[in-house]
Order: sequence, then C-alpha cells, then structure tokens
Amino acid sequence: MGKKILVIHGPNLNMLGKREPEIYGSTTLFELNKEIVQKGKKSGLIVETFQSNHEGVIVEKIQEAFGEISALIINPAAFTHTSIAIRDAILILDIPVIEVHLSNIYKREPFRHKSMISDIATGQIAGLGIDGYFFALDAILKIIS
Ligand code: DQA
Repeated sequence: MGKKILVIHGPNLNMLGKREPEIYGSTTLFELNKEIVQKGKKSGLIVETFQSNHEGVIVEKIQEAFGEISALIINPAAFTHTSIAIRDAILILDIPVIEVHLSNIYKREPFRHKSMISDIATGQIAGLGIDGYFFALDAILKIIS
C-alpha cells in the first residue's frame, strides 16, 4: 500500500484564485488539491488535502495524523507567523515536514519574515507559487524512499 501524505492549508487559502491573485495566483484550492493528489498518485502516494481557517482545527488534524502519515506538507498561512500551538503539534510528529508558502514571505512585510515552524520543519519552500507544493512532494519522495 502507498504511503500517506497529508497536505494542510491554513486560513484564507480556501479563497485561492480570488484572493490577491497578483500575490497568490489564479489557481483555485480545488484545482490545486486535484493536481497535488494526482501527482502523488503517479508516484504511489496517497495524498489527503485539508484546509481550515481555524487554528485549533488544524492542531487537531495534525494530532489525528500522528502515526498515520509518512510526511506532512503544510502552508499554515497567517498562522505561520503566530501559532505556537501549530508548532507544538508538529513537534509531536516524527516525520518529514515541508513548509510551503506561495509567496516569498521574506520579500514582504516584516511581520511575515518570522515563521514559527521554519526551524522545526525539514525544509521550507517559499515564493514559487503552487509549484512549491509539487517540489515539496518531490522532496518527500526522495526523503522517504
Ligand atoms: C502565505 C504567506 C502568509 O504570510 C499569508 O498570511 C498567507 C499565505 C503564502 O502562502 O504565501 O495566508 O502562507
């Protein structure tokens, strides 16, 4: 059976396609998730995607994934910069974790330069748009194979 990968999208990413398209692009979350799942499938991975606007719901999703998944791809969106709770939940997992941002957070407002998870993630991809998720999948494949 294929290994399971979880992809978590944080707040406002349900509005992809409509939300500041000059920064985040015109692809919708539905389209993005479909592509991620398809790419994973081609590589023998079972990919689940999940989005929430609520910090505690994301924490619970990470907790539920404990022992169930081989890697996590997460774009915590605005919670990247604030959430000790999501950081602590990720620390429970002993698997590769790739942090993805559509935009280059280091080129933007100073409050976006700090990530609460970059120092505990296996790696971070920022500024490459939706391709960042596909590169994250490639990285995971290399790491877990
Ligand atoms: C984001 C960057 C965050 O600063 C922002 O709050 C987001 C999206 C990105 O993907 O570029 O919602 O994580």
